[in-house]
Amino acid sequence: MRSQQDSAGGLRHLITLGGLARDALTAILDRAEAYRRFPGQPAYEGRELAGVTVANLFYEPSTRTRASFDLAARRLGAHVLNMDLQSSSRAKGETMLDTIYTLEAMNTDIFVIRDSEAGLPEFLIDHVDPHVSVISAGEAHLSHPTQGLLDVLTIRAHKRRFAGLKVAIVGDIKHSRVARSTSQALATLGTTDLRLVAPEALLPAENEFRAAQRFTRIEDGIAGADVVMMLRIQKERMVQSASLDDAAYFREFGLTAARLRLAAPSALVMHPGPMNRGVEISSDVADGPRSVIREQVNNGVAVRMAVLAAIAATLTRQRHPL
Ligand code: NCD
Repeated sequence: MRSQQDSAGGLRHLITLGGLARDALTAILDRAEAYRRFPGQPAYEGRELAGVTVANLFYEPSTRTRASFDLAARRLGAHVLNMDLQSSSRAKGETMLDTIYTLEAMNTDIFVIRDSEAGLPEFLIDHVDPHVSVISAGEAHLSHPTQGLLDVLTIRAHKRRFAGLKVAIVGDIKHSRVARSTSQALATLGTTDLRLVAPEALLPAENEFRAAQRFTRIEDGIAGADVVMMLRIQKERMVQSASLDDAAYFREFGLTAARLRLAAPSALVMHPGPMNRGVEISSDVADGPRSVIREQVNNGVAVRMAVLAAIAATLTRQRHPL
């Protein structure tokens, strides 16, 4: 794969947080903090992406990721194409690469892509023109880099440190690209106490998440945790979805107010969305005082602005070298 950074360290593509150094990651978080505006404040409006065309190619359903990439690009002055791909060319048999070449011919500069197949963003990086960038908005169960970034931005805003933090990720970790990207970002930033909490069947393979501790009882896994990150049960990625009964899952693994009392008193409750209320999390916890779930959404726009702006700056430098 071509590198995600150019020779000067500028961001060219973003498809994984694995291998992204701490200073590069921190630079994105710092930039995102400058762009972040809380609900009620006027949104940041800039020209960092003036003249840049961004195409959002979502081959899998998405609500918040797609909306936030769209808003992020527009708030920085880009032209944005939102392709409705479930019902378009691919359905008519056009290969994804032909769709890409068509949009490249229309001067698209940045492709934002989500697909259930592994390997597509990397394949695109190898096939697009050298002046075009690729951002993954979710690759199979493997990677969701902007989600990982918004998760650590949210944690940083509250905890101000990563070393010494106890983070529990609870739920369908086996199928979760969020768990993979967020744990990579946490490891890069210095968190060493990561707990994976799930029924045996939803824990990842032993050779993944090497440094993490594994728990099959939520009470053990979240005890004393500073961050409790809940994940959705991803029925669409499970072969035998029928084997999981929602009520039984909630009884054994659902985050309730009583269970949350086992975590640290100031613990943050996170969830990437979409939530299954009453399955992995109770409504009173999701909407309760420890929940930062809507802040995660707010940070998602800021992080995507930061990633787009960093890539646009690299593209500009490449096109107009000093
Ligand atoms: C996640 C995803 O699609 O990977 N959602 C998101 O991007 N916010 C998690 C999920 O679908 O459960």
